[in-house]
Amino acid sequence: MRIIIGISGASGVVMGYHLLKALREARVETHLVVTEAAERTLACETSFRLEDLTALADVVYDLRDMAARIASGSFWSDGMVVIPCSMKTLAGIVCGYADNLLLRAADVCLKEGRKVVLVPRETPLSLVHLRNLKEAAEVGCKIVPPMLTFYGGADTVEKQIDHIIGKIFLQFGLSYKNCTSWDGR
Ligand SMILES: Cc1cc2nc3c(=O)[nH]c(=O)nc-3n(C[C@H](O)[C@H](O)[C@H](O)COP(=O)(O)O)c2cc1C
Repeated sequence: MRIIIGISGASGVVMGYHLLKALREARVETHLVVTEAAERTLACETSFRLEDLTALADVVYDLRDMAARIASGSFWSDGMVVIPCSMKTLAGIVCGYADNLLLRAADVCLKEGRKVVLVPRETPLSLVHLRNLKEAAEVGCKIVPPMLTFYGGADTVEKQIDHIIGKIFLQFGLSYKNCTSWDGR
């Protein structure tokens, strides 16, 4: 399995780190593109370096490299996850405004009918954000917001992130070992 991972500059870039780690453990091939704003957010919010993220991906692309493999529909993938997805990147995806490689890769996945999972992060959400999320859903994106979870013993930030990763895995028919599914009790 092969998944493109886009990390944009919303809060919670650390979720991208944990998703890359989980996909590596699940032996899924990952192709990573990170925005400049994501690098900034990573520095503001965490003690991670960009290299800590890139070391987890199989292939890493330059955001400006519009000739990269993931910029073309002939490069096959199972789809793409944008985690976290900033409101700016969301706007770019719904408008088809593909002026960087992350946006182009998402545009390509949509045109090829491949899965695009967005993990949008902003609060509160304006009407502009809500409209764009609705449009994203209408064009076929799956919206998986990083919502708080109160069941399954999710009592730490790490467990909250694990829950989101579990939900993303489900979108690709995968099961994540650190996320316990609701079993009806
Ligand atoms: C520390 C920090 C936190 C941010 N959090 C968010 C956020 O949660 N959601 C969001 O849409 N933008 C957030 N931003 C603003 C984005 O980084 C900014 O809109 C940027 O232009 C997004 O660019 P990108 O989509 O190319 O990554 C944050 C910026 C910083 C510095």
